[in-house]
Amino acid sequence: MSIYTLSGNERVLSQEAFLVSETDDKGNILFANNDFCNAAGYTIDELIGKPHNIVRHSDMPKAAFKDLWDTVKSGSTWTGFVKNAVKNSSEYYWVYATVYPVLRDGKRCYISCRKKPTEDEISSSIALYKTLL
Ligand SMILES: Cc1cc2nc3c(=O)[nH]c(=O)nc-3n(C[C@H](O)[C@H](O)[C@H](O)COP(=O)(O)O)c2cc1C
Repeated sequence: MSIYTLSGNERVLSQEAFLVSETDDKGNILFANNDFCNAAGYTIDELIGKPHNIVRHSDMPKAAFKDLWDTVKSGSTWTGFVKNAVKNSSEYYWVYATVYPVLRDGKRCYISCRKKPTEDEISSSIALYKTLL
């Protein structure tokens, strides 16, 4: 079952959608769950080992990701709104992401858990990110 409905080019996530991915300390993908693959349009095999910017959307300002990386590298949890691109498509989807560091077999890794943002949160993020581009 799909975890989104299409509205124009936007994949609007369902309330139940819960997208998870994990990266190494360089941002290469170690794991992605079914909801993540479904929303982004990739199979798991296409994602493992790839840099997480594979889903980066050009409307996202660099400053947002600098803030994300500075925060999680300092050991803290980052939360924020992210617009992601769908594979080979002009479609995209918005998420509210919580990203935090973990130790896996003694190695620093990072996990991101994502839920559907509200329409107001998306509108505010669009306005804010335009000023940062
Ligand atoms: C756990 C984790 C999850 C991430 N998830 C995303 C994501 O969903 N979309 C995205 O564009 N960048 C995500 N990033 C940030 C990317 O690593 C990268 O910094 C960003 O896409 C910007 O690309 P660039 O560094 O090549 O400019 C994530 C990073 C981490 C550590």
